[in-house]
Amino acid sequence: MAQKFLVIANCKQGGRTAFFDQLLSELASCSVFDDISLVVMPPVPYLGQLVSASPQVFQWGVQMVSGRSGTAWTGSYDASMVAEIGAQYVCIGHSERRQHDREDSLVTISQYQQVVEAGLTPIFCVGETAKQRAQGQSITILESQLSAVFNSDCFAKLPKHDIIVAYEPVWAIGADKPADAQSVSTEFSWLTSYLTAQFSHGQYTLCYGGSVGPGNCQQFAKLPEVNGLLVGRASLDIDAIKGVLLECSGY
Ligand code: PGA
Repeated sequence: MAQKFLVIANCKQGGRTAFFDQLLSELASCSVFDDISLVVMPPVPYLGQLVSASPQVFQWGVQMVSGRSGTAWTGSYDASMVAEIGAQYVCIGHSERRQHDREDSLVTISQYQQVVEAGLTPIFCVGETAKQRAQGQSITILESQLSAVFNSDCFAKLPKHDIIVAYEPVWAIGADKPADAQSVSTEFSWLTSYLTAQFSHGQYTLCYGGSVGPGNCQQFAKLPEVNGLLVGRASLDIDAIKGVLLECSGY
C-alpha cells in the first residue's frame, strides 16, 4: 500500500483544553484520512487526555524528551513515559531547542537513542541558519547534524527503526516571508541521496517545515522528495490546519 502523506502539527507552547477539544472535533470530521496521516504534538501536559479522547485517525507525538536516564532530573521526562501515555513520535533537534535550550549534538544523540529504545519514531529536525546559507554552508550543516547521530557510537547498536527527517531551514521558521519550494530543492536532493546511502536501519520519510500553511503547502508537497510537512503556527489555527490537510490530500 502506498505511504500516506504525513502532516505533523507542532503545537509548540500553544493551545489550551478548549482549543484542543475543538481541534479534535473539527479535524475528526475532515474526510482526508484515507490520504493523510496526521501526527499532533501538543504540549505534554495535554497528551494523556487527548489520546484518551481522540478517534483512531489521530497519531500523537511530543516535542522533546530528556535523553537522560535515571530519576534525579527534576522537571524532566523520558521517552518511556510519553510512550506509556500514547505518544508514538518524538521531535528531536528542533532549532528552537538547539538555540534556546542549548540542545547540542550530544543531547540530540542521547534523545535519539532514548526515543528508539522506547520503541518510538524520531522526528529528526535539521536545518541551517540564514547566515550559514548565505555563506554557502547549507549542505555542510545538514551533513554535520545528521552524521552527529548516524556516526555516533550508540547508533549502530540501536534496533532497526524508521525515522522522519524534517528539513526545517531556521530562516524559514516563524518567518514573515516563507521559503519557496524551488529554493530548497537542492537540499532535498542532497538529503535524499544522503539518507538513501546512510540510513539502512529502516524506512525514512522526508518532510519540510518552516512557515507552512494553506496557500503554500502544495508547492512543498509537490516536490518529489517530500512526503510530509511539519506545521508550526498554522497548527494553532483550526481553519489553517484544516486547509493544509485538505490542500495536501491526494499527494
Ligand atoms: P512555523 O514553525 O510553521 O511556525 O514556521 C515550524 C516549526 O517550528 O516546526
